[in-house]
Amino acid sequence: MKRLTSQNGAPISDDHNSISAGSRGSLTFDNWQLMEKLAHFNRERIPERVVHARGYGAYGTFKLTKDLSDYTIAKFLQNTGKETKVFARFSTVAGGQDSSDYVRDVRGFSLKFYTEEGNWDMVGNNTPVFFLRDPSKFPDFIHSQKKDPKTNVPNPSNHFEFWASNPQSLHQVTILMSERGIPFSLRHMNGYASHTLSFWNNNGERFWVKWHFKTNQGIKTLTNEEAALKDAHGMQEDLVSSIENGDFPSWTVKVQIMPEKDAETYDINPFDLTKVWPHSDYPLVEIGQLELNENVTNYFAETEQSAFSPGNLVPGLGASPDKMLQARLFAYGDAHRYRVGANHNQIPVNSPKCPVHHYQQDGAMATGGCPYGHGSSTKNEAVNFYPNDRDDAPKQDESIAEPPLKINADTIARFDSREEDNYSQAGNLFRIMSDEQKETLTNNIVGGLQHANADIQKRMIAQFEKADPEYGKLVSEKLKN
Ligand code: HEM
Repeated sequence: MKRLTSQNGAPISDDHNSISAGSRGSLTFDNWQLMEKLAHFNRERIPERVVHARGYGAYGTFKLTKDLSDYTIAKFLQNTGKETKVFARFSTVAGGQDSSDYVRDVRGFSLKFYTEEGNWDMVGNNTPVFFLRDPSKFPDFIHSQKKDPKTNVPNPSNHFEFWASNPQSLHQVTILMSERGIPFSLRHMNGYASHTLSFWNNNGERFWVKWHFKTNQGIKTLTNEEAALKDAHGMQEDLVSSIENGDFPSWTVKVQIMPEKDAETYDINPFDLTKVWPHSDYPLVEIGQLELNENVTNYFAETEQSAFSPGNLVPGLGASPDKMLQARLFAYGDAHRYRVGANHNQIPVNSPKCPVHHYQQDGAMATGGCPYGHGSSTKNEAVNFYPNDRDDAPKQDESIAEPPLKINADTIARFDSREEDNYSQAGNLFRIMSDEQKETLTNNIVGGLQHANADIQKRMIAQFEKADPEYGKLVSEKLKN
């Protein structure tokens, strides 16, 4: 018989009846098992993610099909055939944990690669661009998309009020309102790092890189009407059951690679997150396969406590000057320290699968062999400062240093980027749509925009017109009807 125990491991003789003075009460103060149970219950919740709260995780494998040693020293990108374990988390952005899987929203697409030189987190979305190119507007943007502060329900007028004042969102709004805005399932959507990241190689050469994860299941989407008929948990159930049944979802991994120098002359700012690089300029190079093949066994311990950060980078794979990315390098670690705790990286789902040796120590929930960090294999654990004189203590490795980055600037200022070409790529996307797709796009826009006031409608129509006159005309005609 497996005996029921309290948290200290002591067997419990009666879990039905609390201890009382007489059969009718009151309770006595020696009810320590009851107190432990109630006290722990009160602490079951941690803060939900401030964005991307509703999510679903699974483990899998990344298999490299093209050696990239010409471009990067990243170990997991060398030697064709190499396999790296990953943890993936998909999410909606604006809704809370108890919202629906089937809202029209961007989907988060996060991957934690447990490489032999540390964890690389690819914290992307199912869209190649984003609503903003400057991070100072991120909290305002998210406030406008989440629940209205007075009514506590989402307010489409707020969505469009933000977008009307921020035309840099137009490209992403066009994607969100298109048929891609509601995926059929998490398996039927692409993933993108969206930002420009970087590689550097053994010769100290840097390349700017965009990552793409193309679904092997094919893109499949839902209309608003189809989505309304779905059970709120359907996408999670679909992911879990497909993995359970051995029908492992997979993605073909591709990169666009730009030599560092090209950035100085390319007519598109490669660090503007509202822009894509046309494939005709920088073709997609296939480099691997991603497969998800193992469900989590405890949703809270693994998926909820997973902590992805764009700042989790590995030698050979770096960030870029993209201002949005730079802000994210700070924001996620800060969120994790608040949401999960200072030692979130010691929780198994977040813990690197390679040795970890550092001089940071202690803090709530520290489990590892400090001062050298969890997973330490070294015998000398007495020193907690660096540099030190101990031969077997961890030391920095200058051979993996990132090459210096040349900057083309002589002024520090608040540069206004609000009017930097907000329309050409939104217009290009509109122009490659079929008539049916244009109908869907503009119907979806009008579905929300009709709730906004006349001034917001006018400013939005002006934006659509600048992207393409037909785009503006379709929305404006539909609003009149
Ligand atoms: C989650 C901030 C832009 C994708 C989060 C979280 C924060 C945050 C605080 C919650 C983290 C946690 O509690 O674990 C920001 C800021 C941004 C920004 C400040 C811009 C300045 C973006 C962009 C993308 C993105 C551009 C995609 C390209 C995600 C994803 C998650 C997330 C996928 C969920 C990660 C997971 O699965 O746990 N973001 N974000 N975010 N963000 Fe962002």
